[in-house]
Amino acid sequence: MRNVWVAGATGLIGRELVARLLAETAAETHLFVRRAPDLQSPRLHVHVVDLMQPESWPQPPCDVAFNALGTTIRQAGSQAAFRAVDQDAVLNFARAAARAGAARFISVSAIGASPGALSFYSRVKGEVEQALADIGFAHLVLMQPSLLLGDRQEHRTGEQAATWLMRPLSPLMRGPLSAYRPVAGSDVAAAMVRLAGKPLRSPILRQRHDDIMALADTPA
Ligand SMILES: NC(=O)c1ccc[n+]([C@@H]2O[C@H](COP(=O)([O-])OP(=O)(O)OC[C@H]3O[C@@H](n4cnc5c(N)ncnc54)[C@H](OP(=O)(O)O)[C@@H]3O)[C@@H](O)[C@H]2O)c1
Repeated sequence: MRNVWVAGATGLIGRELVARLLAETAAETHLFVRRAPDLQSPRLHVHVVDLMQPESWPQPPCDVAFNALGTTIRQAGSQAAFRAVDQDAVLNFARAAARAGAARFISVSAIGASPGALSFYSRVKGEVEQALADIGFAHLVLMQPSLLLGDRQEHRTGEQAATWLMRPLSPLMRGPLSAYRPVAGSDVAAAMVRLAGKPLRSPILRQRHDDIMALADTPA
């Protein structure tokens, strides 16, 4: 893995992902961001781009691409604006990475993602998973966390309430319910870095809570 691309590098998962890529791998790390993070490394290449204009982006080589982009309907302001980020920008990034040679695409989706889901959020996530599969990466890894835990700069009332409710219940969530246990964004990022260099048994792999925790606990 000599060259990696990252989208969503300034978010909860993305910040941790970039820190780990710089600390734990030797890869040239290319960030596609709308605002430059306050980070320095000789292996860090920051490309400030408009995610809606992929034809204007630079095209450094890419072996593995990581996507941790996302917004919320509240933050975006409408369902259409949410789709523009969580679907259009993600697919622009994935297609550009494929053109640059990416054999592996590791993307943060969500538990419950399905094109047939009742909730708009899960339906969009499911449609994006399907569109990513259609791109034809040799390996596509779909991270399917439940509620993400970690320090956010921005206040999200719903997520804070869910965290407060789910934390004490989490140890009781076993069997099929374990996929719905909250997970730290830093553990998702750690698992994504491990998955970048791991031989994978199938072209499309979905990673839920227990898979994520097993990988996150593996030494780098
Ligand atoms: N929150 C949860 O509990 C939860 C649960 C399951 C799955 N997920 C999914 O996990 C993924 C990552 O979540 P997260 O909490 O790490 O995300 P986050 O902290 O909200 O960060 C999102 C990233 O996307 C970027 N972004 C958002 N809108 C953009 C736009 N219009 N143009 C360019 N960049 C934009 C942000 O850039 P800026 O820093 O410039 O804003 C940031 O880098 C998301 O897809 C989310 O749906 C979340």
